[in-house]
Amino acid sequence: MLSQRTARLTSSLIRDILAAAQRPGMISFAGGLPASETLALPRLEDVPDGVMQYGPSEGEPALREAVAERARAMGMRCDASQVLILTGSQQGIDLVSKLLIDPGTPVLLEAPTYLAALQSFQFFGADCRSVALGEHGPDLDALRAGLAAKPAFAYLIPTFQNPSGRCYDAAHRDATAEALDAQQVLLVEDDPYRELVYDEACERTPLCARLTRAPWIYLGSFSKTLAPGLRVGYLIASPELFPYLLKLKQAADLHSNRLSQWLVLSQLQGDFAGHLARLRTLYRERRDQMHAALSEQLGEAASWQCPPGGLFFWLQLNTPGIDTRTLLPEAMARGLAFMPGEPFFPNAPAAVSAMRLNFSHSDPASLRQGVRLLAELLHEQQEG
Ligand SMILES: Cc1ncc(COP(=O)(O)O)c(C=O)c1O
Repeated sequence: MLSQRTARLTSSLIRDILAAAQRPGMISFAGGLPASETLALPRLEDVPDGVMQYGPSEGEPALREAVAERARAMGMRCDASQVLILTGSQQGIDLVSKLLIDPGTPVLLEAPTYLAALQSFQFFGADCRSVALGEHGPDLDALRAGLAAKPAFAYLIPTFQNPSGRCYDAAHRDATAEALDAQQVLLVEDDPYRELVYDEACERTPLCARLTRAPWIYLGSFSKTLAPGLRVGYLIASPELFPYLLKLKQAADLHSNRLSQWLVLSQLQGDFAGHLARLRTLYRERRDQMHAALSEQLGEAASWQCPPGGLFFWLQLNTPGIDTRTLLPEAMARGLAFMPGEPFFPNAPAAVSAMRLNFSHSDPASLRQGVRLLAELLHEQQEG
């Protein structure tokens, strides 16, 4: 009765963690949730006539135009005809999977990488090959070798990566774009965190803006800057790919929610720059609080890079061989949820002794208390 690919549906563990993380009293470092107090409900009185009717599959023209304008300001050569408004950028990952993956299709990605992209690619049967991600970008020799093997596409998150928080520096951006151009491999660049920048020195120009020969699909989102519940994201694609993506979008859901699109547009036309500045200030403070708490309590037990942007710390335990999944039941029993490292790897090594910690969603007291709980657990583990 069920399709063969249904057997490749993975990971109830993640859904279980995220569901449990919502329990009252639980401190959650697990999801990638914005701070609730930043999610103001906009005024609905001004909703224009017609928004409740069916709309264009490409998205609202004014929103497509606004997205293209912002992309050009980031250095991308594009116009509104290349913009497809999506029901969350997650839909872009689904459409890319449908467009490009048959069972056995090779796909190149970073390790670790965004787990829901991995799930989608694997669901469609991709042969996921990975390149290790260093502090300033991917291992370039491995990347060049991976691209020379001609994957159908490379899926990369160069700016404030999920889960690692890392940001490619200019040299890695140039070298990666050059390698993609040399092999003419399609780049799928996922960029939902770019506006959440805390250290201004970061180079953030998209890789897509640097390509001269390779085709590309750029994914963006308003989930992390406005509200994930609106479910509005977008893709911008090389002109030759756009008609296929549009047909797949039509088949998936006709078009994205028009009320949400209108709400996003009205925020972009208001003081969006001021909103982003406030968000950055709040999240920079929370990042610094988590960094301070980790340094105080876990300096001996774990290593991490203080993320220059985005929503996550990626913690590597100094004692190898501990699979962080095994710590989770006890952590949750004590009131703390985190995301173990294993689901972020396509071919995970036996024990992944890393974990992802979100800092945007917890207030300062919860950040401190959560790190204290984690430190207790890890110290007990080391002593035991
Ligand atoms: C790297 C990455 N891509 C895509 C998404 C999906 O975001 P959206 O809410 O726009 O569907 C997320 C969400 O956490 C993400 O981290």
